[in-house]
Amino acid sequence: MAKRPLMSGNWKMYMNTQSALELVKALKGNCADVEDRDILVFVPFTLLAPVVNELKGSNIWVGAQNMYFEKEGAFTGEISPAHLLDIGVEWVLLGHSERRHVFGETNDLINKKIKSALASNLKPVLCVGELLEERENGKIEEVLKTQTKGGFKDLTKDEAKKVVIAYEPVWAIGTGKTASPEDADEAHKIIRKILEQMYDKEVADNMRILYGGSVKPDNVDGLMAKPNVDGSLVGGASLKADGFTRIVKFQ
Ligand code: PGA
Repeated sequence: MAKRPLMSGNWKMYMNTQSALELVKALKGNCADVEDRDILVFVPFTLLAPVVNELKGSNIWVGAQNMYFEKEGAFTGEISPAHLLDIGVEWVLLGHSERRHVFGETNDLINKKIKSALASNLKPVLCVGELLEERENGKIEEVLKTQTKGGFKDLTKDEAKKVVIAYEPVWAIGTGKTASPEDADEAHKIIRKILEQMYDKEVADNMRILYGGSVKPDNVDGLMAKPNVDGSLVGGASLKADGFTRIVKFQ
């Protein structure tokens, strides 16, 4: 860990108004003393407005889990960056593996969303990560290259600096199998090398790269101790106030 850590939770398609408000009220209290790291929760669309409202003035950021790239139009069922800004959302998670693999999102679509988020002053977190089969076939670097280059396509250096990357090996998501701290560090190094080739060392070194995939209170310290791991993206373990607080307060 070298930069200001970003500890984020991804609620996925869980929670309701009552449980969400209970959770963020508890987190707000538990984390009020946290000053040296950023805290962020990615919340389902319908819960964004009440959660933003509850967290106003706190040190916890709120993000959406997806958005469409157009500002408005005949796109039934989609949510635009303007909708997010309208209710005070400041972050957006893009290209999560469930979006890629369950909903067929391509690198091209994700790139459009990244550009749209940046143009709207939303802060994007771009997820990348390989499937188990790709890891076993020695394709980690190739996959990370395709997804990173795809996501950052045509971004200027100044734009690239505003993006956060989350490395989430798909085989570690929701499976209880965490990448070892060494594996995570190695993959993050590969991503920095790709960024250095695309931009320069400054962009590569300053990029915040989060690790995600079965992060829990009992493995977060080891992951965060690695020099290339700048934060976490936590699914299941972000739904409980005590567990997520422990993760935020890694040592
Ligand atoms: P998990 O999910 O922590 O439940 O593995 C991580 C994610 O999908 O962001």
